[in-house]
This record gives sequence, C-alpha cells and structure tokens, in this order.
Amino acid sequence: MAKEKTLFTCSACGGTSPRWLGKCPSCGAWNTLVETMPEAEPGKNRYSAAPFAGLAQAQAVQPLAAIEARDFARTASGLEELDRVLGGGIVEGGVVLIGGDPGIGKSTLLLQALDALQRTGLPTLYVTGEESGAQVALRARRLGLEHSPVQVLAEIQLEKILATMDAQQPAVAVIDSIQTVYSDQLSSAPGSVAQVRECAAHLTRAAKSSGMAVVLVGHVTKEGALAGPRVLEHMVDTVLYFEGDTHSPFRLVRAIKNRFGAVNEIGVFAMTERGLKGVSNPSAIFLSQHSTPVPGSCVLVTLEGTRPLLVEIQALVDSGGPSPRRLSVGLDRDRLAMLLAVLHRHAGVACADQDVFVNAVGGVRISEPASDLAVLLAITSSLRGKALPKGFFAFGEVGLAGEVRPAPRGQERLREAAKLGFSVAVVPKANAPKKPIEGLTIHAVERVEEALEVVR
Ligand code: TYD
Ligand code: MG
Repeated sequence: MAKEKTLFTCSACGGTSPRWLGKCPSCGAWNTLVETMPEAEPGKNRYSAAPFAGLAQAQAVQPLAAIEARDFARTASGLEELDRVLGGGIVEGGVVLIGGDPGIGKSTLLLQALDALQRTGLPTLYVTGEESGAQVALRARRLGLEHSPVQVLAEIQLEKILATMDAQQPAVAVIDSIQTVYSDQLSSAPGSVAQVRECAAHLTRAAKSSGMAVVLVGHVTKEGALAGPRVLEHMVDTVLYFEGDTHSPFRLVRAIKNRFGAVNEIGVFAMTERGLKGVSNPSAIFLSQHSTPVPGSCVLVTLEGTRPLLVEIQALVDSGGPSPRRLSVGLDRDRLAMLLAVLHRHAGVACADQDVFVNAVGGVRISEPASDLAVLLAITSSLRGKALPKGFFAFGEVGLAGEVRPAPRGQERLREAAKLGFSVAVVPKANAPKKPIEGLTIHAVERVEEALEVVR
C-alpha cells in the first residue's frame, strides 16, 4: 500500500502543520502536535475502500420501543474471577483494554484465559509483540499448558495482524501489547500516541465488524495511567486494571469502565508457581498479621464491587521539616490533605508541623470515601503513639463540616468483619444495626470528634 502523507495536529486547538514543531503555529501551545492521518478526500473514507455513494441518502429510523433489546452473547472464560470483572464473560465483538505494571501478570492471565476458551471450542489467537513465540511457549510450560491448542502469532505490524485475523477468524484475539503494534501508514514509532490510537481504532473496527472479541494489553506510565492517549479508554468497551504489589502474591483486576457489566467489580487472584489462581473468598487477604496491636494501624472494611474487603490502613506521623510532607500510597493525596484539615479544625488535632504518611496494605487502591474514618483513626493513633484496641475496625465518610456520613451497605460490611473475628467498631450512626450483631461492640458516631473520643 502506498504510504499516505501524514499531518501533525495540535491536540489543544486542532490546528495542523505538515511537519512536527515544538510550538503550535495556530495557538502557540507547546508540545501539543501529534502525528495524525490526514482527513480523507470527500467520498473516500480511509476505513473503507468503497466510495460512500449512499452517504447523502436519508436512512430509516425507528422508535426505540420498536427495537428489540437483545442480550450480549457472552462466553465464560472458565476463570471465574476474570468472568466476574467482565460481567459474566467475554462478549462477542467486545473490545477489552487491560492495563497494569510490568510483570504483574497480564500475559499470564490472558494466556490462561485463551487456553480455557480454546478448550471450550472457541478459536483463539494470541498475538505477541513483546515476546517471541519461544518465550510464550516457555511461559505456557510453566503454566502446565505446553499442549495448549492456542494459536500464537509473533507479529507487530498491524496490516499483517489484521490479515491473519481475517484468515484465521478467531473468536477471541489478544494483542500483547498495543504499544508494540505499528501501522506502516504512519511514520511515528510504535508506542507513540498516533500509532496506538490508529492501531486500536483499526482493531476495534475489526472486532465490531466480525464479532471477534479483542483484548488489548496496555502499558501504564509511571503515574499509573494507561500509556497512550486517553482516547483509547473511550474507544474500547471495557477497561480493566491490574493492581497489587508485585512483592505480594495477590493481584486485583478491577473494571474501570464496562459497557457490558458493573464497574468497580474486582477479581482477585494469587500468583502461584503455576500461574494465577482465583481467590474466591478474598475478604481477609489484605490484613497484615500483628501479634499485638500497633500504633498507626486501623482496619477498614471497604466494599469492592459486590464484596466487602478488609484492608489495613497504616499511618506514620513523624516530626517534619519546614515543609512537612503528606504522602499516600493507595489512597488519594488530596483527600488526605482535606482530612488533616478536618482533623485540625473540628477535633483540634494539629499535624501542621508533622510528616504524614499513609498506606493501604497490599498495594490495593482505595477510592471510596468510606475509608476516611479509618484513615483519620490510623493517623491519630500514630500521633498519640497509642494502638487501637484488638479486633478494631472502622468505616465511614467524613465531611468538611466534621460530620460522619454513612457508607453504602453498612450491614454487609459489619457482618463480614464479625465473621472474620473482629469485635469493636466505630461506624457512622446511620450504619448502626437495629439488632445487635453477635460478638460485635459498635460505637455509632455522628461527628469526627466523637470517633476520636471512643478510642482515646
Ligand atoms: P507476566 O504475565 O509476564 O506479566 P506482564 O505481562 O504483566 O508483564 O508475569 C510475569 C511475572 O509473573 C514474573 O515476575 C513471573 C511471575 N510468574 C509466576 O510467579 N508464576 C507463573 O506461573 C508465571 C507464568 C509467572
Ligand atoms: Mg507481558
């Protein structure tokens, strides 16, 4: 195919330039030009060779009520935890983007999933751009899948990949990874914004037109976002993220976006010598074992998707320098700053001259505000050098006025903690159970001062 001339488009104003420039000639913004394909000539869409003769003709419309709602055709992968995040299985024609740190287990999980799918009779294709076929075979051997029927293609050129898909007609194809794929229509390097966007668009189109499900593996940047343009997340149907500390065996796969299921659902896996194994009862895996309670530690009951999860929140408050630091791992830093202000203003506890570090154990990321109370209790516990009672846990959102707001599905959280042997809790008043729960002493609070008073 003859190479089309590309164009550089400003991501801020949309202005174009035939060459790459540091500064946009139209709006003057710096570093905003990205390589793009030029607009197709009228009547010649670059996605379809045939001219669009019927473009100007009016198309038939119909009332919504007349359109039959159909369920998506799904195939369970057989990996229960993966199916759970996907909302029940792989959807025909669906495009999934899966991101995560290097070495966290993306290739392992997808190879296991493809093998399981192929065994149910679905034709699969594993396109590897990062590793050679021999390396994939080595991993398969480690997973005990050396006799796997999964079809492997080691290729990074988009046009060849699309042609192979056309010839093989797989029902599920994995591209590992989208950053290694390039189209020879663009001159920029694989992994560049233009290449990633173009290749993902073509693969998405191939999925939609053939009914093949496509899984794209995406790299994450140092900041933890998916590398490449944000537009990738908009293009696909489902975005999954791998979370977890590579030093611990547990991995979470979280749905950030899902057109075919619930978001924020998680799948929990453990990395073993022979690949990833689903953890069906994960509530206690993020608790660290202290033989006696230590200052600066508070257990939080968080709700991830449909399941309650107990996570230890650790805080360390230490005298800081002239500009004290506030650092958080797994929790939002702005929220931490806000909570410290609430603590000062409404409970009179000042940390202005102290370094404050908080950490959610096990590499989990906690985004729900119901973690506030546990974070505050861990911080005050560290500041006072006094451990919280044995068997203690907390949850609840804290507002700027110092009020403690209820968390969704409080009863479930309480029951899960009780089941795991926890015995004392500070919870929002509105979450207090009507009937006492056996073995559980509950302090229901309305204000942050009250919560601190309970554990003084
Ligand atoms: P991998 O799937 O290659 O990660 P990614 O594709 O996300 O970069 O996972 C590699 C890590 O997993 C590596 O550190 C080795 C470990 N691992 C196991 O512990 N057990 C196994 O059976 C396999 C295949 C890998
Ligand atoms: Mg990999």
